[in-house]
Amino acid sequence: MRGSAAEAAGGLARDAAAGLTAKPKRLPAKYLYDALGSQLFEAICELPWYPITRAERALLARERDAILARLDTPATLIELGGGNGEKPAILVEGLAAQRRAATVHLIDISETALERARSAAARYPSVIVRGHRGTYAAGLRAAAAELDPQRSAMALFLGSNIGNLDAHESRRFLAEIAGALRPGDSLLLGADLVKPERDLLLAYDDPLGVTAAFNRNLLVRLNRELAADFAVERFRHRVVWNAAASRVESYLVSQAEQTVRLAAAGGCSIRFAEGEAIWTESSYKYKPEEVAALAESAGFTLSAQWIEADAAFALTLFDAP
Ligand code: TRP
Repeated sequence: MRGSAAEAAGGLARDAAAGLTAKPKRLPAKYLYDALGSQLFEAICELPWYPITRAERALLARERDAILARLDTPATLIELGGGNGEKPAILVEGLAAQRRAATVHLIDISETALERARSAAARYPSVIVRGHRGTYAAGLRAAAAELDPQRSAMALFLGSNIGNLDAHESRRFLAEIAGALRPGDSLLLGADLVKPERDLLLAYDDPLGVTAAFNRNLLVRLNRELAADFAVERFRHRVVWNAAASRVESYLVSQAEQTVRLAAAGGCSIRFAEGEAIWTESSYKYKPEEVAALAESAGFTLSAQWIEADAAFALTLFDAP
């Protein structure tokens, strides 16, 4: 799927106008990943306080043989929202060492991420890379339409991206994945686990301010793409651990009473009270058995679960219904 830039801007204008006039105000997290946002997210993954990426990489490397054994030859991988493609690359490297060919479908909202993934994959001549730029759902449909009916596929939903969906959305999305897969296919799901509050807050509000920059860049994007006039320095990054809902909530908090105009979104004006927040992201944290139950409720069957205990992160493999 390759939406035109105008189409994409139309979606942003609609979503920003709707989200900023809602109560509480909110903006969809998928818009965090413009070119700069994607790079800032890559920087977050290098931070000592953000263990998700390292833990998942370590688990993929540690359990690589078990995962490769579950793949067909040639292998088919479908990564949903993977960013720069470094995680399927861990599996592809293993396949290449076993002289097994592979097709990797990469689905991402960010063109920057897809470009980087494509050039990383070019190292492996035995791998065919198919990039599908778009939302998870649209990319999944595009990838599913290209699947070889003779070969099983494995969907990868990593990086605890599942945690950015609420309970209802994640169940619905897992059901969509189940609908796109066939018997014999599988799903590898990466999910961050509940851990001490202090660790969670540092992971989403790091002392270098990279995560704050990542979050506030959303306003830079609205200024550029919607001709808005956010005074970016008057919004502060704030995170809250909501224990009852088991999620880290990320906000941009207005430091003053102010009015912002979105010239290219119907010219609407948005009033902010001092201390009023825009909710930009939720990152749900799970218990291992909750990860299994979530996918099982969408029809998947648990096949294996691997846990990185230090970082408290789980990689869970399921059979498709
Ligand atoms: N999927 C990532 C996560 O929830 C995205 C992310 C990391 C994020 N840090 C953030 C989103 C801060 C918004 C704000 O872990």
